Amino acid sequence: MSTTNTYESISNENRKFPPAASFAANAHIGSMESYRKEYNKSIEDPHAYWAEVAEDLHWFKPWDSVLDDSSQPFYKWFDGSRTNLSYNCLDRHVAEGRGDKTAILWEGEPGDKRVLTYADLLSEVSRFANVLKRLGAHKGDRVAIYLPMIPELAVALLACARIGAVHSVIFAGFSSDSIRDRVLDSQTSLVITADGGYRRGKILELKKIVDAGVQDCACVHHVLVVERGGDEAIDCPMQNERDVFYNNVSAKVDAVCPAEEMEAEDLLFLLYTSGTTGKPKGIMHTTAGYQVFSYLTAKYTFDLQSDDVYWCTADVGWITGHTYIVYGILQNCTTQVMYEGAPNSPDEGRFWEIIENYKVSIFYTAPTAIRAFMKWGDDWVTKKDLSSLRLLGTVGEPINPEAWMWYHTVIGAERCPIVDTWWQTETGGHMLTPLPGATPTKPGCATLPFFGIDADVLNDDGESVEAGILAIKKPWPGMMRGIYGDTQRYESAYWSKWGGQYYFPGDGARVDEDGYIWILGRVDDVVNVSGHRIGTAELESVFVEHAAVAESAVVGVPHEIKGQGLIAFVTVIEGQACSDNLRNQLVAMVDKSIGKFARPERILFSSDLPKTRSGKIMRRLLRDIAEGRELGNTSTLADPSIVENLQLQFQQGN
Ligand code: WTA
Repeated sequence: MSTTNTYESISNENRKFPPAASFAANAHIGSMESYRKEYNKSIEDPHAYWAEVAEDLHWFKPWDSVLDDSSQPFYKWFDGSRTNLSYNCLDRHVAEGRGDKTAILWEGEPGDKRVLTYADLLSEVSRFANVLKRLGAHKGDRVAIYLPMIPELAVALLACARIGAVHSVIFAGFSSDSIRDRVLDSQTSLVITADGGYRRGKILELKKIVDAGVQDCACVHHVLVVERGGDEAIDCPMQNERDVFYNNVSAKVDAVCPAEEMEAEDLLFLLYTSGTTGKPKGIMHTTAGYQVFSYLTAKYTFDLQSDDVYWCTADVGWITGHTYIVYGILQNCTTQVMYEGAPNSPDEGRFWEIIENYKVSIFYTAPTAIRAFMKWGDDWVTKKDLSSLRLLGTVGEPINPEAWMWYHTVIGAERCPIVDTWWQTETGGHMLTPLPGATPTKPGCATLPFFGIDADVLNDDGESVEAGILAIKKPWPGMMRGIYGDTQRYESAYWSKWGGQYYFPGDGARVDEDGYIWILGRVDDVVNVSGHRIGTAELESVFVEHAAVAESAVVGVPHEIKGQGLIAFVTVIEGQACSDNLRNQLVAMVDKSIGKFARPERILFSSDLPKTRSGKIMRRLLRDIAEGRELGNTSTLADPSIVENLQLQFQQGN
């Protein structure tokens, strides 16, 4: 079930599952013929194609041009238009008579419940937006959001979008140091958090983490605190002047707040993600293009119908939650379940109970979760009635065919199509994905490009090959617009691979005889742990901060449940002890600098790292060691005894 096995089993995989005729009959895109027709249209005349899609949405002012590609790679979509994404998620539905439709069926981990219609959501968002204004937030200001999975999280994003403030959501598993780095990088003036949240029966005291994070951030004027705790008091120290309880201000403001007319390329949000350096990048998404792309991908990939109950188990703290809990789903006026907690709280049946109770029809989750469900056993699933399900989805990492087949058989009862969606924080929405009423699926394969996406597999010279690197050859509306404060890094990280012509996502891929694209994992030093992106350089820079550490190298290895795990090789300064105590200190540093989810599986100490004679660390050999493989070519090593020692240590489990 490891990633290595994933790739091996992927390359032998030739099962094919066409959609059931009954599914196809009612689907938006119900055959390969209509997929091809629509796809060709979208590629041959993207201007006409995207203009037609955009007509479904509300514009205060129409665009002058659909795509301005005059200064590559700084593309502009729907330039000249004015719109508002919160308006398209809320006001549009209420104005057109859909206000009574349920938007969010929320369940807290302890079992508390809330139901919000689209009309309710509009007034909550408007009130929240007025609170933000009261605290001095203006169009263009950056607002950080550090909240548990409660309705206010979605509300906070929409409230920012409503007034034109730029949200920067920080997943609530990140540490205070990560909050500080993001707040400083984007010069955030307001931070929204909660007293706490629930995870596996425990309270996470979020406000305290924020306090530690922003204590030296002069740019932060206010911390707005939502009280999640209710009856259960959560310790929540408040600082005079700076800190404000949401309920205290919301009672004083109006529940009406007109949506700001935003320019097409006004910044909508920042979302920080890992790359190949020690510093996460603030990915920038703008208004109009992201709006249109999130709307259409959600509609077609999930084949959204008016009576669907959709559930995405991701956290809004990641891009999946931004696009496929908030913007894409709400623009389609879909009813969705939102759940705060863990899948195994109070027991391993929680998710299936939620599906049964709310009659969920579309379920979107990560391969890591599916592998954990498999391990927990089928009994948890078969005890529940999952007959409401009609479509399943996966996201975030390659899915191994074994997990895909289990999902298909045990969860989907061989009835539900599976959409394996490949995309990134940077792409804004789905790029490669089956369309459930049209595309015959293959276990472990993200299949074919979405409309408007010109995808290919290239070699270093930009020639199409069977196995190589994934490239996107044309701009698309949901694409990132840059890295906050670092234009040069945007060009070098994403556009320099093929001379500025094509977008380079950083994934390896292969094309099969049907033209399907199989994703083979990252080709750079980004590791995907439980679907969370972590740059190995980020961890390395944490370790070298320790006074006893001289150098470190971190590599990704296959992991049975997480997809990939991290193994750290650390050299200590002469005279320092390589003790369990030091190991514990290093783990504590990871918790503090990034968050617990980035902890390595193992830390190995050594007097030196395997290097070439010119002093370059040979990561390839470290990967061989960490995966327990026979070593590759060692002839260029300066000192071969180092790898031998490391290999022995690894095998002995030290
Ligand atoms: C990986 C998550 C294989 C990929 C939406 C990509 C996938 C990175 C898939 C982006 C998939 C995402 N199959 N690999 N279906 N989906 N990935 O930015 O390596 O958190 O580059 O976005 O996850 O991760 P991010």
